[in-house]
Amino acid sequence: PETISDLLDRLCEIVPDYPSAGISFKDLTPAFADAAGLRRMVDEIVAPFSGQFDVIAGLEARGFVLAAAAAYATGTGMVTVRKAGKLPREVHRDEYTLEYGTGTLELHRDDVAPGTRVLILDDVLATGGTVGSAARLLKMVGAQVIGVGVVLELQGLGGREKLSGLHVHSLQLV
Ligand code: PRP
Ligand code: MG
Repeated sequence: PETISDLLDRLCEIVPDYPSAGISFKDLTPAFADAAGLRRMVDEIVAPFSGQFDVIAGLEARGFVLAAAAAYATGTGMVTVRKAGKLPREVHRDEYTLEYGTGTLELHRDDVAPGTRVLILDDVLATGGTVGSAARLLKMVGAQVIGVGVVLELQGLGGREKLSGLHVHSLQLV
């Protein structure tokens, strides 16, 4: 049987110079589009956290694909952590650093009850700015982040170091 690493090698497309010169973009859309690919990614991303979470937080936009599927598969709900201005009710807001500039994420104040055990899912961990911001937002509502699952972990960008204290599980180092 194919290992998850071989599957990701087969179904992740590397796009040179996207979105700008010198950046090598890791495109997981073929893996999402593949029936076995989606199932394997979801099953393996949640496996180490089995029984430890009450809800899954997905990070807009690419994290939504994994989080919704994983929530359905594990019989939990899903919470959306969104880019600024997309959530209609009262939010907590957190600004984070991107490779160039800043981004802002928001979370509805009442989508997660205090004490809820939350698993954060996203497609890629790079600098850790996005996941770090989501973890801060979940802390603001009194949730307990029990772990972080990502498909790809880009090495050399300090993401894992930035998230020290969190249990980070990645399916593949690239
Ligand atoms: C990408 C990726 C992760 C994040 C990783 O999202 O999907 O969420 O960057 O980078 P970081 O660890 O340095 O924060 P992006 O902000 O490009 O948006 P998208 O998911 O909406 O495409
Ligand atoms: Mg993203």
